[in-house]
Amino acid sequence: MADRKALIIGASRGIGLGLTRELAGRGWHVTASQRSEGAELGGLAAESTAIDTIRVDVTEPESYEGLSGSMKPGSLDLLLVNAGITGAKHQSTQQATSDEVAHVMMTNTVGPLRLAHQLLPLVKDGGTLAFMTSQMGSIADSSGGYELYRMSKAAQNILARGLFEQFARQRDIAVLSLHPGWVQTDMGGVSATLTVSESVKGLADVLKTPRKPDHLFLSYDGSQLPW
Ligand SMILES: NC(=O)c1ccc[n+]([C@@H]2O[C@H](COP(=O)([O-])OP(=O)(O)OC[C@H]3O[C@@H](n4cnc5c(N)ncnc54)[C@H](OP(=O)(O)O)[C@@H]3O)[C@@H](O)[C@H]2O)c1
Repeated sequence: MADRKALIIGASRGIGLGLTRELAGRGWHVTASQRSEGAELGGLAAESTAIDTIRVDVTEPESYEGLSGSMKPGSLDLLLVNAGITGAKHQSTQQATSDEVAHVMMTNTVGPLRLAHQLLPLVKDGGTLAFMTSQMGSIADSSGGYELYRMSKAAQNILARGLFEQFARQRDIAVLSLHPGWVQTDMGGVSATLTVSESVKGLADVLKTPRKPDHLFLSYDGSQLPW
Protein backbone atom coordinates (compact mmCIF):
# COMPACT_ATOMS: atom_id res chain seq x y z
CA MET A 1 0.00 0.00 0.00
CA ALA A 2 1.41 3.40 -0.99
CA ASP A 3 1.93 5.62 2.02
CA ARG A 4 1.35 8.84 0.06
CA LYS A 5 -1.14 9.75 -2.63
CA ALA A 6 -0.82 12.38 -5.35
CA LEU A 7 -3.02 13.69 -8.12
CA ILE A 8 -0.98 15.24 -10.93
CA ILE A 9 -2.86 17.27 -13.54
CA GLY A 10 -1.10 17.44 -16.93
CA ALA A 11 1.07 14.33 -17.00
CA SER A 12 1.03 13.19 -20.64
CA ARG A 13 4.63 14.33 -21.30
CA GLY A 14 7.48 16.51 -20.06
CA ILE A 15 7.73 17.39 -16.38
CA GLY A 16 4.31 16.00 -15.40
CA LEU A 17 5.13 12.60 -16.90
CA GLY A 18 8.60 12.64 -15.31
CA LEU A 19 7.21 13.54 -11.90
CA THR A 20 4.60 10.79 -12.14
CA ARG A 21 7.40 8.27 -12.78
CA GLU A 22 9.61 9.74 -10.03
CA LEU A 23 6.93 9.83 -7.30
CA ALA A 24 5.69 6.32 -8.15
CA GLY A 25 9.32 5.15 -7.94
CA ARG A 26 9.52 6.68 -4.47
CA GLY A 27 6.49 4.73 -3.22
CA TRP A 28 3.70 7.21 -3.89
CA HIS A 29 0.41 6.25 -5.51
CA VAL A 30 -0.12 8.68 -8.39
CA THR A 31 -3.31 9.45 -10.23
CA ALA A 32 -2.08 11.18 -13.36
CA SER A 33 -4.19 13.09 -15.84
CA GLN A 34 -3.93 13.53 -19.59
CA ARG A 35 -6.19 15.23 -22.10
CA SER A 36 -6.42 12.24 -24.40
CA GLU A 37 -5.09 8.71 -24.20
CA GLY A 38 -1.37 8.79 -24.90
CA ALA A 39 1.15 6.01 -25.28
CA GLU A 40 3.72 7.33 -22.80
CA LEU A 41 1.58 7.75 -19.69
CA GLY A 42 -0.57 4.78 -20.71
CA GLY A 43 2.54 2.61 -20.97
CA LEU A 44 3.83 3.77 -17.60
CA ALA A 45 0.48 3.04 -15.94
CA ALA A 46 0.32 -0.40 -17.59
CA GLU A 47 3.67 -1.31 -16.01
CA SER A 48 2.90 -0.02 -12.52
CA THR A 49 0.09 -0.59 -10.05
CA ALA A 50 1.19 2.66 -8.39
CA ILE A 51 -0.15 4.75 -11.29
CA ASP A 52 -3.63 5.21 -12.63
CA THR A 53 -4.79 7.64 -15.25
CA ILE A 54 -7.76 9.91 -15.74
CA ARG A 55 -8.79 12.44 -18.39
CA VAL A 56 -8.73 16.12 -17.46
CA ASP A 57 -8.54 19.32 -19.49
CA VAL A 58 -8.01 22.29 -17.16
CA THR A 59 -10.03 24.52 -19.48
CA GLU A 60 -13.06 22.19 -19.28
CA PRO A 61 -14.55 22.13 -15.76
CA GLU A 62 -16.86 19.28 -16.74
CA SER A 63 -13.76 17.08 -17.21
CA TYR A 64 -12.80 17.30 -13.51
CA GLU A 65 -15.94 18.22 -11.57
CA GLY A 66 -16.85 14.55 -11.14
CA LEU A 67 -13.57 13.84 -9.35
CA SER A 68 -14.83 15.40 -6.14
CA GLY A 69 -17.44 12.62 -6.14
CA SER A 70 -15.27 9.71 -7.28
CA MET A 71 -12.22 10.34 -5.04
CA LYS A 72 -12.46 10.35 -1.25
CA PRO A 73 -12.36 13.75 0.48
CA GLY A 74 -9.08 14.18 2.35
CA SER A 75 -7.46 11.25 0.51
CA LEU A 76 -4.64 13.18 -1.21
CA ASP A 77 -1.32 14.20 0.29
CA LEU A 78 -0.63 16.23 -2.83
CA LEU A 79 -2.60 17.88 -5.61
CA LEU A 80 -0.21 19.24 -8.25
CA VAL A 81 -1.48 21.30 -11.18
CA ASN A 82 1.33 21.04 -13.72
CA ALA A 83 -0.54 21.68 -17.00
CA GLY A 84 0.66 24.70 -18.90
CA ILE A 85 1.38 26.24 -22.29
CA THR A 86 3.68 29.00 -23.54
CA GLY A 87 0.95 30.76 -25.48
CA ALA A 88 1.15 32.44 -28.88
CA LYS A 89 4.58 32.27 -30.50
CA HIS A 90 5.00 36.07 -30.78
CA GLN A 91 4.42 36.42 -26.96
CA SER A 92 3.59 40.11 -27.42
CA THR A 93 0.69 41.82 -25.62
CA GLN A 94 0.90 44.46 -28.40
CA GLN A 95 0.05 41.86 -31.04
CA ALA A 96 -2.10 39.43 -29.10
CA THR A 97 -5.68 38.75 -30.15
CA SER A 98 -8.40 38.34 -27.53
CA ASP A 99 -8.47 34.61 -28.30
CA GLU A 100 -4.71 34.31 -27.69
CA VAL A 101 -5.00 36.13 -24.36
CA ALA A 102 -7.97 34.01 -23.35
CA HIS A 103 -6.21 30.78 -24.33
CA VAL A 104 -3.07 31.38 -22.27
CA MET A 105 -4.99 32.77 -19.29
CA MET A 106 -7.58 29.99 -19.25
CA THR A 107 -4.88 27.30 -19.50
CA ASN A 108 -2.21 28.67 -17.14
CA THR A 109 -4.24 30.76 -14.69
CA VAL A 110 -8.03 30.51 -14.53
CA GLY A 111 -8.24 26.79 -15.34
CA PRO A 112 -5.63 25.64 -12.78
CA LEU A 113 -7.12 27.83 -10.04
CA ARG A 114 -10.71 26.75 -10.71
CA LEU A 115 -9.63 23.13 -10.66
CA ALA A 116 -7.63 23.60 -7.44
CA HIS A 117 -10.55 25.34 -5.77
CA GLN A 118 -12.94 22.59 -6.81
CA LEU A 119 -10.65 19.72 -5.80
CA LEU A 120 -9.16 21.19 -2.61
CA PRO A 121 -11.54 19.06 -0.46
CA LEU A 122 -9.70 15.98 -1.80
CA VAL A 123 -6.46 17.19 -0.16
CA LYS A 124 -6.07 16.12 3.44
CA ASP A 125 -5.67 18.67 6.22
CA GLY A 126 -1.94 19.34 6.48
CA GLY A 127 -1.38 18.25 2.86
CA THR A 128 0.06 20.15 -0.11
CA LEU A 129 -1.44 21.96 -3.06
CA ALA A 130 1.18 22.78 -5.70
CA PHE A 131 1.11 24.72 -8.95
CA MET A 132 3.77 24.58 -11.63
CA THR A 133 4.49 28.22 -12.15
CA SER A 134 7.74 29.65 -13.53
CA GLN A 135 10.47 32.01 -12.48
CA MET A 136 9.13 33.99 -15.45
CA GLY A 137 6.12 34.79 -13.27
CA SER A 138 8.32 36.65 -10.79
CA ILE A 139 7.84 40.43 -10.91
CA ALA A 140 10.96 41.01 -8.78
CA ASP A 141 13.12 38.99 -11.16
CA SER A 142 11.74 40.01 -14.56
CA SER A 143 13.83 41.21 -17.47
CA GLY A 144 10.73 41.65 -19.66
CA GLY A 145 9.78 39.75 -22.81
CA TYR A 146 7.70 36.55 -22.98
CA GLU A 147 4.77 38.77 -22.04
CA LEU A 148 1.86 36.39 -22.49
CA TYR A 149 3.55 33.59 -20.57
CA ARG A 150 4.84 35.86 -17.78
CA MET A 151 1.43 37.51 -17.41
CA SER A 152 -0.30 34.16 -17.02
CA LYS A 153 2.16 32.81 -14.45
CA ALA A 154 2.34 36.05 -12.40
CA ALA A 155 -1.46 36.02 -12.34
CA GLN A 156 -1.42 32.34 -11.34
CA ASN A 157 0.86 33.24 -8.43
CA ILE A 158 -1.46 35.94 -7.06
CA LEU A 159 -4.52 33.68 -7.37
CA ALA A 160 -2.62 30.88 -5.63
CA ARG A 161 -1.96 33.31 -2.77
CA GLY A 162 -5.67 34.10 -2.58
CA LEU A 163 -6.60 30.43 -2.49
CA PHE A 164 -4.07 29.89 0.27
CA GLU A 165 -5.33 32.79 2.38
CA GLN A 166 -9.02 32.07 1.89
CA PHE A 167 -9.24 28.29 1.89
CA ALA A 168 -5.97 26.40 2.48
CA ARG A 169 -4.42 28.10 5.50
CA GLN A 170 -7.37 27.23 7.74
CA ARG A 171 -6.83 23.53 6.90
CA ASP A 172 -3.03 23.65 7.40
CA ILE A 173 -2.53 23.03 3.68
CA ALA A 174 0.70 24.44 2.23
CA VAL A 175 0.44 26.02 -1.22
CA LEU A 176 3.60 25.79 -3.31
CA SER A 177 4.21 27.74 -6.50
CA LEU A 178 7.01 25.69 -8.05
CA HIS A 179 9.64 26.61 -10.62
CA PRO A 180 11.01 23.44 -12.26
CA GLY A 181 14.17 25.07 -13.66
CA TRP A 182 14.73 25.41 -17.40
CA VAL A 183 13.95 21.90 -18.53
CA GLN A 184 14.45 19.94 -21.77
CA THR A 185 10.82 19.37 -22.73
CA ASP A 186 8.67 20.34 -25.70
CA MET A 187 8.20 23.67 -23.92
CA GLY A 188 11.75 24.21 -22.65
CA GLY A 189 13.48 23.08 -25.86
CA VAL A 190 16.73 21.23 -26.38
CA SER A 191 19.00 24.06 -25.15
CA ALA A 192 17.49 23.98 -21.64
CA THR A 193 19.96 23.42 -18.84
CA LEU A 194 18.20 20.56 -17.02
CA THR A 195 17.00 17.13 -18.04
CA VAL A 196 13.50 16.12 -16.96
CA SER A 197 15.07 13.59 -14.61
CA GLU A 198 17.22 16.25 -12.86
CA SER A 199 14.27 18.61 -12.47
CA VAL A 200 11.79 16.04 -11.15
CA LYS A 201 14.28 14.57 -8.65
CA GLY A 202 14.65 18.06 -7.16
CA LEU A 203 10.90 18.68 -7.26
CA ALA A 204 10.18 15.34 -5.58
CA ASP A 205 12.60 16.28 -2.76
CA VAL A 206 10.86 19.66 -2.41
CA LEU A 207 7.46 17.94 -2.28
CA LYS A 208 8.47 15.45 0.40
CA THR A 209 9.77 18.18 2.75
CA PRO A 210 7.20 18.82 5.49
CA ARG A 211 5.78 22.36 5.31
CA LYS A 212 4.03 24.70 7.66
CA PRO A 213 0.85 26.17 6.15
CA ASP A 214 2.30 28.92 3.96
CA HIS A 215 2.38 29.98 0.31
CA LEU A 216 5.94 29.65 -1.00
CA PHE A 217 7.61 30.29 -4.38
CA LEU A 218 10.20 27.50 -4.59
CA SER A 219 12.66 26.40 -7.23
CA TYR A 220 13.27 22.70 -8.00
CA ASP A 221 16.47 22.91 -5.89
CA GLY A 222 14.52 24.01 -2.82
CA SER A 223 15.63 27.64 -2.93
CA GLN A 224 13.03 30.35 -2.34
CA LEU A 225 12.35 32.76 -5.22
CA PRO A 226 11.32 36.42 -4.96
CA TRP A 227 7.72 37.20 -5.87
N1 LIG B 1 10.14 23.34 -19.42
C1 LIG B 1 10.52 24.40 -18.75
O1 LIG B 1 11.69 24.87 -18.88
C2 LIG B 1 9.59 25.07 -17.79
C3 LIG B 1 10.10 26.17 -17.05
C4 LIG B 1 9.27 26.79 -16.13
C5 LIG B 1 7.97 26.33 -15.94
N2 LIG B 1 7.51 25.28 -16.68
C6 LIG B 1 6.12 24.85 -16.41
O2 LIG B 1 6.10 23.46 -16.14
C7 LIG B 1 4.85 22.88 -16.56
C8 LIG B 1 5.14 21.67 -17.45
O3 LIG B 1 5.89 22.13 -18.57
P1 LIG B 1 6.65 21.15 -19.57
O4 LIG B 1 7.94 21.79 -19.87
O5 LIG B 1 6.58 19.75 -19.10
O6 LIG B 1 5.71 21.37 -20.87
P2 LIG B 1 5.24 20.35 -22.00
O7 LIG B 1 6.24 19.30 -22.24
O8 LIG B 1 4.80 21.24 -23.11
O9 LIG B 1 3.95 19.65 -21.31
C9 LIG B 1 2.84 20.42 -20.97
C10 LIG B 1 1.83 19.52 -20.29
O10 LIG B 1 0.67 20.33 -19.99
C11 LIG B 1 -0.46 19.66 -20.54
N3 LIG B 1 -1.52 20.60 -20.90
C12 LIG B 1 -1.47 21.65 -21.75
N4 LIG B 1 -2.67 22.24 -21.83
C13 LIG B 1 -3.51 21.54 -21.03
C14 LIG B 1 -4.88 21.63 -20.70
N5 LIG B 1 -5.68 22.56 -21.23
N6 LIG B 1 -5.39 20.75 -19.81
C15 LIG B 1 -4.63 19.78 -19.29
N7 LIG B 1 -3.33 19.60 -19.57
C16 LIG B 1 -2.78 20.49 -20.44
C17 LIG B 1 0.07 18.94 -21.78
O11 LIG B 1 -0.87 17.98 -22.21
P3 LIG B 1 -1.04 17.60 -23.79
O12 LIG B 1 0.02 16.55 -24.06
O13 LIG B 1 -2.43 17.10 -23.87
O14 LIG B 1 -0.81 18.85 -24.58
C18 LIG B 1 1.36 18.38 -21.19
O15 LIG B 1 1.10 17.25 -20.41
C19 LIG B 1 4.10 24.00 -17.28
O16 LIG B 1 3.15 24.56 -16.41
C20 LIG B 1 5.18 25.02 -17.61
O17 LIG B 1 4.69 26.32 -17.71
C21 LIG B 1 8.28 24.64 -17.58
